[in-house]
Amino acid sequence: MFALCKIVWPLLRELPHVESYSLSFIWFFFFPVVLDLLQIANLWQFENLTKLQLDNNIIEKIEALESLVHLVWLDLSFNNIEVIEGLDTLVKLQDLSLYSNRISKIENMDTLQELQIFSIGKNNLTTLEDVAYFRRFKHLRTLNLAGNPLCDDKRYMLYVVAYVPNLVYLDFKLVRDSTVKEAVLQYQYHTEPLEQEEAEALAQLEDKQAKQKELEYHKTAFVEYLNGSFLFESMFAEDTAAAKLACLPGVNDLLQAYPSWFVSVCESLFNYGLKEHENREAEVSHFYECLNEVLTANQQEGRKRILDFENQSKKVISYDIAESKRAQYKEDILQLSEALMALEILITDQLEVRLKHIPVRPHIHNVGGVTLLLLHPSCRELENNHHEKLLEISITTLEKSLKNELNVALPADVQTLLVDKTTIVNTVNASHGTRLRSIDKRESDILSNIYHWQTSVTEQAFQNEIDRNHNRVKEIILFIENLQEELDSIQIPEPME
Ligand SMILES: *[C@@H]1O[C@H](CO)[C@@H](O)[C@H](O)[C@H]1NC(C)=O
Ligand SMILES: *[C@@H]1O[C@H](CO)[C@@H](O)[C@H](O)[C@H]1NC(C)=O
Ligand SMILES: *[C@@H]1O[C@H](CO)[C@@H](O)[C@H](O)[C@H]1NC(C)=O
Ligand SMILES: *[C@@H]1O[C@H](CO)[C@@H](O)[C@H](O)[C@H]1NC(C)=O
Repeated sequence: MFALCKIVWPLLRELPHVESYSLSFIWFFFFPVVLDLLQIANLWQFENLTKLQLDNNIIEKIEALESLVHLVWLDLSFNNIEVIEGLDTLVKLQDLSLYSNRISKIENMDTLQELQIFSIGKNNLTTLEDVAYFRRFKHLRTLNLAGNPLCDDKRYMLYVVAYVPNLVYLDFKLVRDSTVKEAVLQYQYHTEPLEQEEAEALAQLEDKQAKQKELEYHKTAFVEYLNGSFLFESMFAEDTAAAKLACLPGVNDLLQAYPSWFVSVCESLFNYGLKEHENREAEVSHFYECLNEVLTANQQEGRKRILDFENQSKKVISYDIAESKRAQYKEDILQLSEALMALEILITDQLEVRLKHIPVRPHIHNVGGVTLLLLHPSCRELENNHHEKLLEISITTLEKSLKNELNVALPADVQTLLVDKTTIVNTVNASHGTRLRSIDKRESDILSNIYHWQTSVTEQAFQNEIDRNHNRVKEIILFIENLQEELDSIQIPEPME
């Protein structure tokens, strides 16, 4: 077997671009004796394959097909396969035959959403209830189950038709409307709850996808998770001292109002960020509009030059132009070439000036790191405010505690903070520092994202212009060369004797 693989394989390799294959056919073609393929191997480089026939072998395991992601049609009938597996990546598969194998379970086919025709006849499927699996294939029209033990069930036909909706052919026979009616009538109490479940699952999925899309949009605006308490929570998640300090009398009141203020600042920031994103997009598209206007005007000018030239040359060019006219024409070509190149240089200069004024939104003022995108009050201001009040409370509490005037019992680990001023101030200060760092981090993320965005927009615009210029120059050169060749190919009239 191995030796044969070595012979056949190089032959197959010569055809890597074919779109459809029958290995058994090729096998047979090269070796008049029928060979039995035991293992699927070496197919990974046939990525473009859309059709693959591996029927009538002795394959035991579906494997090594992962890379054939364009496969639409796959025939694995008449093999010794026991388990459905290894098909996950073949998401374009529309027609699959596993006819005459040893399969006893329908599984591992979730990703084959394009499946229209499926044959798993003559296998070892025993449980009729398992056919409900096929409900997930919304395009399944043709199903063959004939020759499985489950077909012996009295309910078989109606059950399958009821549970696998939209079937047109079952076991090679047209599914009659009357059968559908009967099946629905008989099983609607079972299938209706299923339908409802599926509809709910679908709605949930769509909801999830919509949320995901929304999140993506927020990410492009660099304001993801700013529409809620996420930043506030992350600030306190890092801050281990906060819980202890919260036990000090009066701090609870302080903490009551803080989150909602903070969150509302985050929300303004969020909305501001979305608006800025729209402004940026609008600015970029405006930029390109203007660019295209200038470009179009330039192109029209170029086209006019060419038309003028052609109108002019029509009078001149014929199959036997005289030497003097030929020289004139040559001169005209040269002039046209110069004119077109001059236009190109002009537009390149014009565009370069424009590219230097590429959008620079937003005008970031990050003076002293105090403001975040010019918003007042900023998250940082709120945090400073909170810190000052907390510090005040802490010192008052310390003083009361030292005078034994504190009439509440505090947990032991909180009491250890109330020994002297340095300890409590340092703790409060460190706690504040931790929270500020969360704000700093978010702010610097936003700023660096915006910076990267600007750079990439500029780079893209420059690259576009470089490509455009390159292509245009090539186009002009080819055009001019073509004109010259045309001229050269015209016969010089024989001098008259
Ligand atoms: C068919 O499947 C049943 C279990 O569902 C198993 O007991 C039996 O051995 C299988 N037969 C063959 C031929 O694989
Ligand atoms: C915030 O936006 C996310 C998407 O980025 C969304 O899933 C979530 O429901 C929003 N939260 C609030 C409180 O609006
Ligand atoms: C071609 O040139 C003639 C004058 O030489 C002018 O009258 C005519 O309008 C021109 N045609 C075009 C299509 O430019
Ligand atoms: C609080 O910490 C900051 C640094 O985070 C430091 O500059 C300041 O001096 C500290 N204040 C006190 C009173 O320790």
